Amino acid sequence: MSCLLGHSHPEVVEVIKEYADKLIHISSRMVSPPTINLAKRLTSLLPPGLDRVLFLSTGSESNEAAIKLAKMYTGKFEIVGLAQSWHGMSGAAQGAQYQGGRRGQGPSVPGQFMLPQPNSYRSIFRHKDGSYDWKTELDYGWSLIDQASNGSIAACLVECIQGDGGIHVLPPGYLAALKRHCEQRRALLIVDEAQTGLGRTGKLFGIDHEDIVPDILTLSKPLGNGLPVSAVITSQEIDRVANERGFLFFTTHANDPLVTAVGGKVLEIVTRKGTLEAVTARSQQLLAGLRHLQERYGCIGDVRGRGLMAGIEIVSDRDGKEPAVELAGELSRNMVKRGLWSQLQDGKVFRIGPPINSTDEEIQFGLKILEDVFRHTANTHALTNGEQSNGISSVS
Ligand SMILES: Cc1ncc(COP(=O)(O)O)c(C=O)c1O
Repeated sequence: MSCLLGHSHPEVVEVIKEYADKLIHISSRMVSPPTINLAKRLTSLLPPGLDRVLFLSTGSESNEAAIKLAKMYTGKFEIVGLAQSWHGMSGAAQGAQYQGGRRGQGPSVPGQFMLPQPNSYRSIFRHKDGSYDWKTELDYGWSLIDQASNGSIAACLVECIQGDGGIHVLPPGYLAALKRHCEQRRALLIVDEAQTGLGRTGKLFGIDHEDIVPDILTLSKPLGNGLPVSAVITSQEIDRVANERGFLFFTTHANDPLVTAVGGKVLEIVTRKGTLEAVTARSQQLLAGLRHLQERYGCIGDVRGRGLMAGIEIVSDRDGKEPAVELAGELSRNMVKRGLWSQLQDGKVFRIGPPINSTDEEIQFGLKILEDVFRHTANTHALTNGEQSNGISSVS
């Protein structure tokens, strides 16, 4: 997810060498040309309302700063997140993150609330025809928060596609509805684009798929293509008010020139003619390949994703949707043995995020390894002529 353009992209390496020679780090009180250029370029590509940038190092820091900004601007303190979200390991960021890792450290930041995960595959909120009723689920979630809240909601922090949460794309209209819920409570909407930013989804930003402008947008992993640089982007108004109230988020590496120069190069490459179109083409290839695999192996309960961010969920049977954690682990180990790095979310969902400049052949090669692994691993439930078979599925 971080090496957006693959490892050691030659143009990125060139910029690292140039700035290693020229200027690696300066005082955080100073801003250098690459930092100014990247800020100008980023804000020119984002909608009005996202016009002021602070560069930090990690995704956690960017969300920490965004939450602090929201609290100072609104004068409130409660933060709402989605179940299964991931926003980082620092105090406030982790406070809004509802995955494993919350336990064992005593009370964390007060005033945290959770909305249900928008999980179209597993949600119990259904229309009569069985389709996912995210709207009722969302309204119900907010009604619970309103009962529990102190009336002091400062912000709601979400990913456009939950990455670590199992590749769940927010349903169309969800972000807009969330923004309305925030406005009704005079809270800010913060969108965390650590995984969806810079072309990953086939558009420059994940928010470009929806007609909404968040109050704050955070960007991290892909910006440095593997180097630590993140950004917090907001409106002039929020910046002005927060500054008047004494907002400070000061770290040793804020606005460092070497990493912002790299960010500028990454942005330049991603916005070159044809890059995003190629992501869409490779995405269609990848998702079609994964769906073809799903037609052939009953243990694949769901295939989902957007752009080059895909997930496949492993189950022991499709009707019951029982997670097949052991099988998923075995598949994962077999993929690694064949040279395909594989990462499981929550023990059952493969998170697939190849570099966005992957070629047709590279995607095909990855799909071929997946096919081999599903064929040669026991209990993948090969589906032959529509019949489900058990055992080693090597003769499908
Ligand atoms: C959506 C999202 N936000 C924030 C973070 C935290 O970023 P970092 O690990 O750079 O602090 C991550 C990391 O996985 C992430 O996926």
